[in-house]
Amino acid sequence: MRKLGAYIHIPFCEKKCNYCDFYSSPCSEGVRDSYIEALCKHIELEAPLYKDYEFDTVYIGGGTPSILTPNSFEKLGKTIKKHLNLTQGAEFTIEINPGTLTLEKLIAYKSQGVNRLSIGLQSTNDQMLVSLGRIHTLKDFEESYFLARECGFDNVSLDLMYGLPNQTLNDLIETLEEAISYQPEHISAYCLKVEENTPFGKIEASLNLPDEDFEYLMYETIVEKLRENGYSQYEISNFSRAGRRSQHNLKYWLSQEYIGFGPSAHSFFCGERYSYKPSLSEYVESLSKDMLPVKQLEENFEHSLDKMDEYVMLRFRLNDGVNTSEFYKEFGKEFAKEYPQIEQFVRSGHVNFDGEKYFFSTKGFFVSNYILTQILKF
Ligand SMILES: C[S@@+](CC[C@H](N)C(=O)[O-])C[C@H]1O[C@@H](n2cnc3c(N)ncnc32)[C@H](O)[C@@H]1O
Ligand code: SF4
Repeated sequence: MRKLGAYIHIPFCEKKCNYCDFYSSPCSEGVRDSYIEALCKHIELEAPLYKDYEFDTVYIGGGTPSILTPNSFEKLGKTIKKHLNLTQGAEFTIEINPGTLTLEKLIAYKSQGVNRLSIGLQSTNDQMLVSLGRIHTLKDFEESYFLARECGFDNVSLDLMYGLPNQTLNDLIETLEEAISYQPEHISAYCLKVEENTPFGKIEASLNLPDEDFEYLMYETIVEKLRENGYSQYEISNFSRAGRRSQHNLKYWLSQEYIGFGPSAHSFFCGERYSYKPSLSEYVESLSKDMLPVKQLEENFEHSLDKMDEYVMLRFRLNDGVNTSEFYKEFGKEFAKEYPQIEQFVRSGHVNFDGEKYFFSTKGFFVSNYILTQILKF
């Protein structure tokens, strides 16, 4: 049976963080309840389309999925299990914000088959957490983390951020060492991107942000420290213990199919990439009339690339890079002949070639966007 991933978006947060432009907002429990109603209807109405598929990953992301009450979560979990054909042992992840987790919620996750938690820690420095606009302290994180471990969750990922205003190398090292000391199975480390329509975007000029050299030093420190501590890098920003890569996120990078549910959720199915409009009210209204939300076909830069360029771009995000035999099997062409510019980056040490695969070195990953603009054909 063909495999699919399901992404389910929960567009609520207790409060927006100063840097974040993901589609989410604070709102009442009543609105959340009507959203869960709509989401369940969406899954139910669309499920017949996927009857010949098996879902081997489910990812509930946000926003803050852990804001849902245990009852709401159970309703959603039951709908997923009833209507989507889940593979035995499917990876089932939920994103958690420290400060929003309770024992009752963890019990509800367990009862619905959640087996992976992704917790947004960002930094272990309380002052930094305040400046990011986070709703939690390090102590809140520790309480959530240890509670999850006590409940038997044995696959936990932590999100960290670097390149933050006023962040020193020592701050970053402290965060890394503390994060490692909890022994999570997986760590994602994202460089702050200042987004235009956020509080940080509005005061960007006055933020004390690191320059490119310092950002690179931070990135190199993360890669080395995590490697020394048994986390192997498998994507630009993702590191894991053996066997603990995010199977759901790998689908995105390996161009495998996934179905999104909820406003702003993206999908890739039957060769088509589409998303739903980021509007909670329109989404809820159309589903209240038993109508599916309108799909918006994607036409952004990434998706206007031809198939070969898209393949190369996505593979280069991964540590394994482009395997020349697989490339030949896929396109019937030699990678080095199709992308001759790659050689200059092999010579400069940004790209490694082991006789079979071309893949970024750490310094290559850091400037991967630039290198891709130089080698892709678009
Ligand atoms: C979709 S968010 C949701 C996670 C969860 N709500 C939380 O904040 O704990 C996933 C992750 O993206 C990262 N992120 C969000 N906005 C970012 C930005 N502007 N720059 C870099 N990383 C960002 C954060 O590390 C965050 O944990
Ligand atoms: S980072 Fe997470 S908690 Fe903060 S606003 Fe974005 S989605 Fe919400």
